[in-house]
Amino acid sequence: MTLIESARLVRENAHAPYSKFKVGAALRASSGLVYHGCNVENVAYPEGTCAEAGAIAAMIAGGDTAIAEIAVIADSPKPVSPCGGCRQKIAEFATGDVKVVLATLDGVVHETTVAALLPGSFDAEYMSRV
Ligand code: THU
Repeated sequence: MTLIESARLVRENAHAPYSKFKVGAALRASSGLVYHGCNVENVAYPEGTCAEAGAIAAMIAGGDTAIAEIAVIADSPKPVSPCGGCRQKIAEFATGDVKVVLATLDGVVHETTVAALLPGSFDAEYMSRV
């Protein structure tokens, strides 16, 4: 199964009663294991979490720390774009050349990279004097 197919399946489990916008994410870690996440909204809106955040949390809980590839899917008119916060979360565990596959339910796919999604990202090097 491809990462997009995995993301499509887990998207069905999203808890999105407020936005009605279900998102699924699947990532392959450097170990080869695949981790899944979906958005989990909350009646206190800011407490909701994105699909990417869920997949990353699952990866860390599973004992992996490096993303080799990540895919995100939603029922959007064009391939879904990870929010700024999720771009930063992905960058925490991925090198810039890591492939990011963004897709619609209709089958439109856009392939990009972590570096392209988050140019000039804040990273640990900026804290090297601390
Ligand atoms: N959302 C994600 O889970 N990932 C994205 O990449 C974009 C947005 C969620 C957050 C919220 O539950 C809903 O989509 C609408 O913003």
